[in-house]
Amino acid sequence: MSVEVMCNEQRFVLETANTAYVLDMHEGGHLQHIYWGKKLAHKCDYKAMRPFVIAHSSFEATRGVMGYEFIPWGEMVYSEPTFKASNSTGERGFDWIYEDYKLEIINDQLTELSLCLKDKIGRYRIQLIYGVYEEYDMISRRLAVINESEDQLTLEAARSLQVAFKPGQVSRFTHLAGKWVGEFQVLQETLSEGRKTIDSRRGTTSHQANPWFAVDADATEETGDVWFGHLAYSGNWDIHVEKDAFGLVQLCGGMTDFDFSKVLKANESFETPPFFIGYSENGFSGMSHLAHRFQRDVILPKDHRDHLRKVLYNSWEATYFDVSVDEQKRLAEKAAAIGCELFVIDDGWFGERHSDQAGLGDWYVNQDKFPNGLSELISHVESLNMAFGIWVEPEMVNKDSQLYDQHPDWVYQFSNKNHTEARHQLVLNLGKKEVRAYIKNWLGELLAKHDIHFIKWDMNRAFSEPGIVEKSHGALNHTKMSHEQQQLWMEHVKGLYEVIDHIKRKHPHVVIETCSGGGGRVDLGILQRTDQFWTSDNTDAVDRLSIQYGASFAYNAKAMMCWITDSPNWLNQREVPLTYRCHVAMLGALGVGGNLDHWDDIELAEAAKWIAYYKEIRRTVQEGNQYRLASPTISSRTNYTGIQYVSEDKKHSVVFLFEDGLKYGEQLTLIKFKGLDPEAYYKDQSGFKATGSFFMNAGIQWQLSKQYTSEIYELHKCEE
Ligand code: DGJ
Repeated sequence: MSVEVMCNEQRFVLETANTAYVLDMHEGGHLQHIYWGKKLAHKCDYKAMRPFVIAHSSFEATRGVMGYEFIPWGEMVYSEPTFKASNSTGERGFDWIYEDYKLEIINDQLTELSLCLKDKIGRYRIQLIYGVYEEYDMISRRLAVINESEDQLTLEAARSLQVAFKPGQVSRFTHLAGKWVGEFQVLQETLSEGRKTIDSRRGTTSHQANPWFAVDADATEETGDVWFGHLAYSGNWDIHVEKDAFGLVQLCGGMTDFDFSKVLKANESFETPPFFIGYSENGFSGMSHLAHRFQRDVILPKDHRDHLRKVLYNSWEATYFDVSVDEQKRLAEKAAAIGCELFVIDDGWFGERHSDQAGLGDWYVNQDKFPNGLSELISHVESLNMAFGIWVEPEMVNKDSQLYDQHPDWVYQFSNKNHTEARHQLVLNLGKKEVRAYIKNWLGELLAKHDIHFIKWDMNRAFSEPGIVEKSHGALNHTKMSHEQQQLWMEHVKGLYEVIDHIKRKHPHVVIETCSGGGGRVDLGILQRTDQFWTSDNTDAVDRLSIQYGASFAYNAKAMMCWITDSPNWLNQREVPLTYRCHVAMLGALGVGGNLDHWDDIELAEAAKWIAYYKEIRRTVQEGNQYRLASPTISSRTNYTGIQYVSEDKKHSVVFLFEDGLKYGEQLTLIKFKGLDPEAYYKDQSGFKATGSFFMNAGIQWQLSKQYTSEIYELHKCEE
């Protein structure tokens, strides 16, 4: 059993294959964090653990300073609360009493422990729900609130995770920050007294910060303790990490309380999204291996979870909005000839969409661009042995569209203020059921009438003017109270998930790629319903190295889309050799996004060669364990970036090496591989044979003499 209850049902031990998480019901219903780390050999040792409490002064909680699993607001604890609520009689806080616990085996992967707290008068219930994924060394935590009173309860904060680290246990916070065309930059900060917050208030996950964290004391890529977590949510969120003067570090996170409100009417309940957390004693690689495997086996939608991702071609950078059936057919022929397996037409195929100024919302096939409908292109693509995919942006509308003319009340807005447009578009209110019905309808029809196997689901602006209006007597007015309108942030996410789940249910063969101007909506919530993500609109191979490197801390390579595009690159005009561009794009799920009409025969042949080779190694890249041998971003700079993949059975490994900062001429670099079987023999492409131990300790020498040199080194396990 992965959950042990001990010490008079006061102590709960969650055990996974290699880790343990221990919490205690302290007097007065205060849930205290006791331990999170390596699994102990003897269960009696969990009983021996002592709670961490420091009695101090009248300026701190009378029961002492301690690490919590749940912080209700209104007590003498001043870090971010897990939960804050009030009711209509003016009560602003409640006394929570521990009621009972429940253990449930959900399936063969998951056991759940629910700890139930009840307000002293018995009107409200809070459940702290812990999910134990024993085999995966992962735990989930979420909160459920049930209003059993006759009156309404207004939630003002309800976070999913609350956990504490003892003094000295952690001293560094790692997170991912960025911007459009610069996502997933790894930042590491020393924790000092005070609060550090990362968050999104933009309506979606965001490019600027990602709902993921890691904390450690002195871990390296391969060694040391790392604790990490992923919030499965695609709207406004926050993570606070806070160190006090005693050295205690409290970490909490979930949906943000910024502009947040949730009204629970009598007998209504509410659940927060899950926060998935894990611990590894094998440094940051160990952390990523746990997270990647868990995503591949448990998080990604099950219909395509076990399939290798196809090599796709996407026509965006080739044609932008200038779409015509003949040009798309020609591109499809070239894409098929170099080995692509899926052809995706991007923006510009529908409505009056000739630029980003018009057309969003009008999802009919443009007759001038496709006089015989989309089927002409689809049949052509299929005759070339490729599947067909299409771009959509369902949550948006241009003001210049039929949809906006008919339904100006469908967008978020303040009734007395002009809209803020971004990319000339406005955000549709997916909290409205008629909007959801509209999307389900047109998208359902598009998929029913055409043989479409892939959708790129885009979302190209952040929210503004978060208000809800209704049409009445020709005017647009707010009809809901302000605190009810504040619910739109989460209603949007709920609506989005409902629509995607509906589409997935009805069309399970369709692979969905999440995109938000690149990596603006990548999180475990969206990845529970979409199969892969567009990593960044930045397709420059050099920038991509650090974007993909950062993304690999949190996200698996199978879901991470990477394209080979043109040189010079559209973004920064950098010229990079095709080999280097191909190798960078082969680090995840491979695609091609260049204008193949401009590639000469030599370039097409080289791309075809790498695509064919990628198909041979893609299982190891997409499903193997990834090792970051040398980084393009972290301060201990090397002159190269090295990324290695090792198949689960350790029989195959592929190492990608990239020049990344060569100075003062030729250099010899020692590359030590990771993750091989030390006793087994491996043979490289040249026939050179040695043991795993040799490759991991003596290593190989790589001579660097030229900018943009890149190389792939492949090892196969062999007989002695
Ligand atoms: C932003 C995406 O990230 C691009 O790849 C492309 O699909 C454009 N939107 C289309 O408008």
